[in-house]
Amino acid sequence: MPQRATYAEINLGAFRRNLRIVKNALGPGVGVLAVVKADAYGHGAIPCAQAAVEEGVDWLGVGIVQEGIELRASGVSSPVLVLGSVFPNETEALIQHGLSTVLTTQTLADALDKAATKAGKTIGVHVKVDTGMGRLGATPENFPALLERVAKSKNLVVQGISTHFSCADEDDSEYTRLQISRFNEALEQVEKSGLDVPYIHSANSAAMIKYPETWHNLTRPGLILYGALLSESLKPFVEKFTEGGDRFQPVMQWKSRIIQINTLPPGAGLSYGKTHSAGRESRIATLPLGYADGLARNLSNKMQVLIRGGKAPQVGNICMDMILIDVTDVPEALEGDEVVIFGKQGEETIRVEEVAAQSETLPYETLCAVGKRVPRIYLP
Ligand SMILES: Cc1ncc(COP(=O)(O)O)c(C=O)c1O
Repeated sequence: MPQRATYAEINLGAFRRNLRIVKNALGPGVGVLAVVKADAYGHGAIPCAQAAVEEGVDWLGVGIVQEGIELRASGVSSPVLVLGSVFPNETEALIQHGLSTVLTTQTLADALDKAATKAGKTIGVHVKVDTGMGRLGATPENFPALLERVAKSKNLVVQGISTHFSCADEDDSEYTRLQISRFNEALEQVEKSGLDVPYIHSANSAAMIKYPETWHNLTRPGLILYGALLSESLKPFVEKFTEGGDRFQPVMQWKSRIIQINTLPPGAGLSYGKTHSAGRESRIATLPLGYADGLARNLSNKMQVLIRGGKAPQVGNICMDMILIDVTDVPEALEGDEVVIFGKQGEETIRVEEVAAQSETLPYETLCAVGKRVPRIYLP
């Protein structure tokens, strides 16, 4: 099959370097659970997981059991934690593939215990306390009882205690500090229970960068490993975290090629709904990618791309399989030319964070959205 002209270039070397930056900054005694859920934020779970394992991460984090099974099928044998918890009908698969899960409720504890007893095996669990995310986990009030329940079970092995922050990327640190203090109270309960727990973890990328007190002995970075940042205001903290060393580098670049250029008269309507019409004679380039590839339609008439080392505006509504670019001011642009949706070309860069902001979303969503139809080309 021929190589598609639209593709995502994944720089595994950059991913590895980002991981090394994290490991260096954390120093010995603080491990890394590399979050590779959602196909490693669109970068490809298997190659990223394999690279992460080679770089010596302690754990891998997936969102759902099925993602853990895929990692196992590819030969990844490192500890894998299902961050999104499991349903009772998934407990057997958990055991069969040696996956660990966050433990959030008594009901789940019962189901896991029963499945483990039946299989004559143990299941690794990370008891999760909800300190303010309002999502998964025992409330601080229910946490001691959940701990007690697990402590009684011979089949459930407590590998970790965890929580998750909701606002660690925000300027105001008050809420994160409240979550930190609630987690510390939960850890006092663990201490009192006498349970010997190998891993304590709470920090996503933003918390890891901004709040060293959240590191404990394991951190759970995702986005930063892929070289993206959630908010501009984290930048000074990144500087401090990396202390003048290497900088985090974007891992994914999204590229395509011009399939056709037409010269259209002034007033020509462009794309469905004619939301843009050329005010002058215009050279309009068509690119073979669209919202079916994960390029959000609300970027229509807002985004820019890189052509011949400079920026050119996207015009008209984004279609399922195509977008239009006004290359009137890039007279040297030719059919077949490389175009960068986000990434670097010559001296110019379009960051995924910019595209996400234009699309009124977060870089997480823009990266995860890059569709299955877009081949990933891996650079070592
Ligand atoms: C439980 C949990 N931990 C860690 C992460 C990683 O977060 P980030 O990508 O912001 O580093 C996520 C991602 O959403 C998560 O759900």
